[in-house]
Amino acid sequence: MPIRSGFQKQYKKSDSIYYMADEIKTATATFKVTIDNITIDVAPGTSILQAARIIGGDVTPPAMCYYSKLQGSGGKCRTCLVEVAAGSTADPRPMPKLVASCRTNVMDGMIVKNITSEKVTDARNGVVEFLLINHPLDCPICDQAGECHLQDLGYEHGKAGTRYEFARRTFAKEDIGPYIQLHMTRCILCYRCTFVADQITDSRVHGIVDRGDHAAISTYISKAIDNDFSGNMIDVCPVGALTDKTFRFKNRVWFTKPVDAHRNCSNPKCCGKATLWLRGNEVFRVTARKDEWGEVQSYDGKTGWICNTCRFDSKKTSDWTIEGLTQISRHSVLGANKYKTLEMPKETLPAVLKGRSPKLMMNIHNVSEVNNPNIELSAINGPSHSEDFERSAEHVKGAGESTQWGMKK
Ligand code: SF4
Ligand code: FES
Repeated sequence: MPIRSGFQKQYKKSDSIYYMADEIKTATATFKVTIDNITIDVAPGTSILQAARIIGGDVTPPAMCYYSKLQGSGGKCRTCLVEVAAGSTADPRPMPKLVASCRTNVMDGMIVKNITSEKVTDARNGVVEFLLINHPLDCPICDQAGECHLQDLGYEHGKAGTRYEFARRTFAKEDIGPYIQLHMTRCILCYRCTFVADQITDSRVHGIVDRGDHAAISTYISKAIDNDFSGNMIDVCPVGALTDKTFRFKNRVWFTKPVDAHRNCSNPKCCGKATLWLRGNEVFRVTARKDEWGEVQSYDGKTGWICNTCRFDSKKTSDWTIEGLTQISRHSVLGANKYKTLEMPKETLPAVLKGRSPKLMMNIHNVSEVNNPNIELSAINGPSHSEDFERSAEHVKGAGESTQWGMKK
């Protein structure tokens, strides 16, 4: 099995932007690392976070500032803290404090605790509380809602109430250009957007100005961000601080249908592969394709950044070749009602009833006055209309088949 290394190739400005992707190595020397009782071999130089991503699932710490395709990212937000119970085989002493897994490399024989550590859960709860201290909590009107990493963290580690009694930070509104809307009150100062501007675009005109409580994303001085690849800043922003002006308030993301599509883009730096977010046949927004960690996907070791022409100016389905529905985790709110194929649940009733079969079964399709069983909901192309849900006359009239409540005798 190839061993994934935490090292990234050196970024050179003159080279293609595609040099940013993680490198897959087949190294011979390996380090054994145990994370939450799961042991794997990784190449020397792999970070704890990268090792945990190889294992996958809940073992992987959340990462709000680290981004494997952006050199220098990580070490800002502290959401990825883990406990190192044993430093290495050579020196098995535990590390005295929790460490940022995105910035700490594994050692041979290292033992790491993430979800199995109470200290980590406690610290992460505290980090989330701090991240939310100044956050406006405006998810109901935020375009990032449904795909916001801070929202997910808030649900996993947040509390219903706040202990903070002071006024929240506010900022003067700043227009940073025609395509990107800045909501500074939502920013967590992760620096990802500044790395994108530095490493992907030709020139950076924005950054974090001032320090401490006044630190804010701003352009210097009131310049518009209009670079060809600036839209990628929207994709890397983990919260709703940078959103797409062409999509603002048009729809909730979970009502749109994501499909994979590609086009022959004339910009040699653009990968031309994107996700279109449709409502009916209308393209509401275009984004780069994301992987399971919420990062822009790589193709053949190259990161799939897309240009602004594809993102903002190609909003017709005829501009694209559609490949099919985007695979979305079934746990995501984005995946709601967008099943590719219907997987029937395993039969559990006989197990629950100790081997007996039930005498009466209610078929919800037969009794429901809302769902027409002749209509496959997942096949409805676009927003559904009332006629899609009209009751089938034959079904209602088939009185001999079922009683009023659909109980078959
Ligand atoms: S605007 Fe978004 S990407 Fe930029 S620093 Fe703030 S949270 Fe991070
Ligand atoms: S992801 Fe490690 S500190 Fe932010």
